[in-house]
Amino acid sequence: MGSSILLPVLALVFLVGAIHSSPYDEFRSSIVEFYDTNLDEPKYRLKDNVKPLRQTVDLDVYLDEDRFDGETSIYILTADNDMKQIVLHQNVVSISSVSVFNVTGAPVPLQTPGAFETDPYYEILMINLANPIPVGEYTLKIVYKGRINTNPLDRGFYKGYYFTDSSNTKMEYYATTQFQPYHARKAFPCFDEPQFKSYFTISITRPEDFSQSYSNMAIEKFETIVKEDGSTRVRETFYRTPIVSAYLLAFHVSKFVETQVNVDNKPFGVISRPGPVDQHAYAIRLGQLTTNWLSTKLKFDYYAMGEGVAMKNDHIALPDFPSGAMENWGMVNYREAYLLYDEQNTNLQNQIFIATIISHEMAHKWFGNLVTCFWWSNLWLNESFASFFEYFSTHGADPSLELDDQFVVDHVHSALAADASSGATPMNWTGVVTNPSINAHFSTTSYAKGASVLRMMEHFVGSTTFYKALEYYLRENQYQLGDPKKMYAAFETAVAEDGSLSQYTNVKITDVFDSWIQNPGAPVVHVNVDHSTGVITVKQERYQLSGIRPNTLWQIPLTYTRGDDVDFSNTKPSTVLVGESTTINKPAGHEWVIFNVAQSGYYRVNYDDHSWEMIAGGLRTSREAVHKLNRAQIVNDVLYFLRSGDVSIERAFDVLAFLKEETDYYVWAGAIGQLTWLRRRTEHIPALYNEFSAYLLEQMDAVINQLGYNENPSDSTSTILNRVQILNFACTLGHEGCVTDSLAKWKAFRETPTNLVHKNLRRHVYCVGVREGDRTDYDFLWQRYNSSQNTADMVVMLRALGCTKDEATLQHYLQQSLYSSSIRIHDKTNVVSYALLGNQENVKGVLNFIYNNYESIRTQYGGSARLETVLSTLAAYLTDFSDIVAFQSWLYSNQLKLEGTEFRTGVNVINSAISNLDWASKNAIGLNAFLIGRNAAASVIAPITLLIAAVAMHLLR
Ligand SMILES: *[C@@H]1O[C@H](CO)[C@@H](O)[C@H](O)[C@H]1NC(C)=O
Ligand SMILES: *[C@@H]1O[C@H](CO)[C@@H](O)[C@H](O)[C@H]1NC(C)=O
Ligand SMILES: *[C@@H]1O[C@H](CO)[C@@H](O)[C@H](O)[C@H]1NC(C)=O
Ligand SMILES: *[C@@H]1O[C@H](CO)[C@@H](O)[C@H](O)[C@H]1NC(C)=O
Ligand SMILES: [Zn+2]
Repeated sequence: MGSSILLPVLALVFLVGAIHSSPYDEFRSSIVEFYDTNLDEPKYRLKDNVKPLRQTVDLDVYLDEDRFDGETSIYILTADNDMKQIVLHQNVVSISSVSVFNVTGAPVPLQTPGAFETDPYYEILMINLANPIPVGEYTLKIVYKGRINTNPLDRGFYKGYYFTDSSNTKMEYYATTQFQPYHARKAFPCFDEPQFKSYFTISITRPEDFSQSYSNMAIEKFETIVKEDGSTRVRETFYRTPIVSAYLLAFHVSKFVETQVNVDNKPFGVISRPGPVDQHAYAIRLGQLTTNWLSTKLKFDYYAMGEGVAMKNDHIALPDFPSGAMENWGMVNYREAYLLYDEQNTNLQNQIFIATIISHEMAHKWFGNLVTCFWWSNLWLNESFASFFEYFSTHGADPSLELDDQFVVDHVHSALAADASSGATPMNWTGVVTNPSINAHFSTTSYAKGASVLRMMEHFVGSTTFYKALEYYLRENQYQLGDPKKMYAAFETAVAEDGSLSQYTNVKITDVFDSWIQNPGAPVVHVNVDHSTGVITVKQERYQLSGIRPNTLWQIPLTYTRGDDVDFSNTKPSTVLVGESTTINKPAGHEWVIFNVAQSGYYRVNYDDHSWEMIAGGLRTSREAVHKLNRAQIVNDVLYFLRSGDVSIERAFDVLAFLKEETDYYVWAGAIGQLTWLRRRTEHIPALYNEFSAYLLEQMDAVINQLGYNENPSDSTSTILNRVQILNFACTLGHEGCVTDSLAKWKAFRETPTNLVHKNLRRHVYCVGVREGDRTDYDFLWQRYNSSQNTADMVVMLRALGCTKDEATLQHYLQQSLYSSSIRIHDKTNVVSYALLGNQENVKGVLNFIYNNYESIRTQYGGSARLETVLSTLAAYLTDFSDIVAFQSWLYSNQLKLEGTEFRTGVNVINSAISNLDWASKNAIGLNAFLIGRNAAASVIAPITLLIAAVAMHLLR
């Protein structure tokens, strides 16, 4: 059989792990920031013998010359006697002068020559004192010249562009900042590590015909300045900030416009280029709600954070932004698509992104800005909270968006997916990763995983105690540094006061919490029920899709319910599983049990075969008796168990059989990603592929009928999201009703373009229109893309354009990503993903595009890391052996022209594709047997056997 022959080849395989494909991922991963881990090297770090207390920054900005003049004063406290050198960060163009003054304002003499030196590699400025100085307070004054970066990906103070006319010919520039994690030093010399927090006062001088400048704080003073050449400029000085780390500072110079509201002395502003000024209202409404919700819930008012200075709350939409959004205090930056909402064109998914991203950034005001982590290795701490509140504070602001439930299928499922890899890293981890796909993977994990662990803790200690602990943590550490130990301490206090854990013996909140932070991966709980006695044996194991499962122990709060006494509302754990296994007693009797109620815990659950059989039966006869989030967990778990071999193919499909009647969004959301993964594994065996697709379409009949092809005014959020996910999947599978309806809608739209396709149906309707159409359909959509004023809608169009099947058109599409100024730099890598997602047949065209253009991709997409992202995307799509071989031969023959870790990324792609193919070879017979068993299409078997043999032969050579 093929599988045993393949083994020697696969000994070399390095498993990249699960490629999860929820509809949110591309957005999520584009939000995630990556950090150079070499920052942990001591040479990059400042000593803590100098502490900045106050800093003023004064910039004179020349946008059209890509430069600025800067002057900064830093009031410091020294801690060592006889200090001879003061070291801080800088990465400016040149430093003209440095002076040091003592507390009475007298100059402190510097060494001559060599008063100061810079080290461009470590990005530091060393100030050499003539004589050792005693402990005390000093002021550093530095005059320098800086650059405005023209590539937004360079961060620091950078500039971007936008068009001021509908034909996209008149360009206007703006300049803004992105300092996280270590780019403040590009705008001004400073102590550029999160642990150094001080007060800042910023002044910006700009051309007179620009709008007012923005920074973290409101403007305190305007001045008109007449330059030597007679020109006038405007200088704006902002109020001093609260105590803050340099990475949270920001400023912005442009001709943008602002919508400002002020309710009860609580200002809220949205700022954008002038075009989409009518798209500010939603962000304002949602932002006010979430600010108030967080202020109330955390018992610390956002507007009181200024330490005596009034806070403002501005949110700026940027056409070019290297990350998704950035939580600068008082001036949050966003990618335009994540802030501007247009009633007619922004679909519900994008509306939800806007809401959740605002909530995420606002949550950082408490977790990140007010209490800052000491160093980047504790990043998970503030990110976990931000990702938690991303959903729960949005839920508080607008429950109709159902974000409490969506949390589970988005964050919990995607974190569990990432943790299924044998290479998963703990949240508390600072190691070096070189492969950006893996990096991306794990960065996403620590956000979603941390948030999932927090949700588990809330259910464990109870909501009241949970929020009490957060309040203590914030109060105790406000304007200072936080760390996990301080957070555990706050939980210990709150738990002790409330007696929240008194029902458990020998359980400490710190130990429970810490086991989830320190351990890599996530557990599966194996449940074995003896129905005659009622004794349930539970046993934990680290879950992995493949590879040897290491011994790891978590402290797992367990919840369960059972068929004879159903209760899916109680999520207070009955036991904490501390050791490897334990037993739980239920009444004797033949009934199903389901663990992890409402998936409130961060773990998968596997059952003995008979228990699975009873769950499957229960779901078929009365699935609605089981909580929708447990149905979602069950389908997601069982599909993973099918992949990892923990559950047989027959049993897995037996459990999945209830999907035939299932119409719930959450349950399908738990299934579609993995069903797509399985379907790809059959792609190279056409008979099996067709049969599997047919099976999927049968399963979807009920849900498609229930949803229909049009939106109803009374549809709930999850119904609308369900229609989006189901019709996309159905149309991709070639569902006749879906394709026919989409084509009719597309035709009507092409004939009367003012007759818009409903915003929530565009994704699949546009895709089908382009896929089934010709060049004129594609050109039609390009034109609309080119003249749209709503960025979120543009992304929908850009995605649909990738659905073209025509080779020449596909190449046009891919070429646009290299050279068209209509495709923003942050969307460029997506173009490749969209082409791959659009049609299975596009793989060869994409490969050719990469072979012919990899050097341009590297330069035009923004560097080697971007090329690696493009290469990594291929892993899931190289399902055909000949494509793998072709890619491998290209990779090896161009090895010398590849830079950095590009080659290694390519090798990982091949290994991951081969391991997928191996999985397919091992399981094709079983899948086929199941598919045959379900109807009598026995003819499928012969060609499959032949093909598997053929694949194995290839691999042997
Ligand atoms: C500041 O420097 C001046 C001039 O060297 C000196 O006279 C004075 O004592 C210094 N003050 C302090 C507080 O060090
Ligand atoms: C889109 O607009 C840009 C800028 O005007 C133009 O150069 C480009 O040709 C347009 N693209 C298409 C395909 O219409
Ligand atoms: C989380 O904390 C780190 C360290 O303090 C900080 O630098 C980082 O910006 C925070 N994360 C975000 C994205 O806010
Ligand atoms: C995290 O890891 C570091 C170093 O590996 C360790 O010192 C620390 O105690 C760990 N735990 C937490 C909860 O941060
Ligand atoms: Zn964040």
